[in-house]
Amino acid sequence: MLSKKIEKAINDQINAEFWSAHLYLSMSAWLSEQNLPGFSNWMYIQYKEEDTHALKFFRYVNERGGRVTLQPIAEVPSEWKSAVDVFQQTLDHERVVTSRIYKIMEIALEEKDYGTVNFLQWYINEQVEEEATAEDYLNKLKMIEKDPSGMYAMDKELGARVFVDATLKGA
Ligand code: FEO
Repeated sequence: MLSKKIEKAINDQINAEFWSAHLYLSMSAWLSEQNLPGFSNWMYIQYKEEDTHALKFFRYVNERGGRVTLQPIAEVPSEWKSAVDVFQQTLDHERVVTSRIYKIMEIALEEKDYGTVNFLQWYINEQVEEEATAEDYLNKLKMIEKDPSGMYAMDKELGARVFVDATLKGA
């Protein structure tokens, strides 16, 4: 059984994960319009990943006998200054997500809900990866943003990303 406090924190996080999904889908649309199909593909896969992050929480609440209540998803931005700006905002956003996950972990520890502590470990690991990937691409982009052949090569690299539902592993 989940406490009401944990249930609320996770329901709020489900909303935040769906908001993240919308943010990345919006970025995907903007990048497509900038004639960067590979970047757009990468963000589209990112959208799908965020969707699965929300659904992993959804399954967990149900499994623990809690109640999922879906909330309205706030509007997301739709304009960026450049591809660098997109990845800077991605990194900033992932850092916010990490702090949100840490807060839920703190509540779970306070309440001695070790099932939730164990469950959240997956998200903690995921956030390390998410931040590292966003930072890596941001740094690469800053080096090549004025170089069309560099942008072309990176667009090709990002275009190769395929969706893998990592939440099903050990879920
Ligand atoms: Fe669901 Fe990108 O963290």
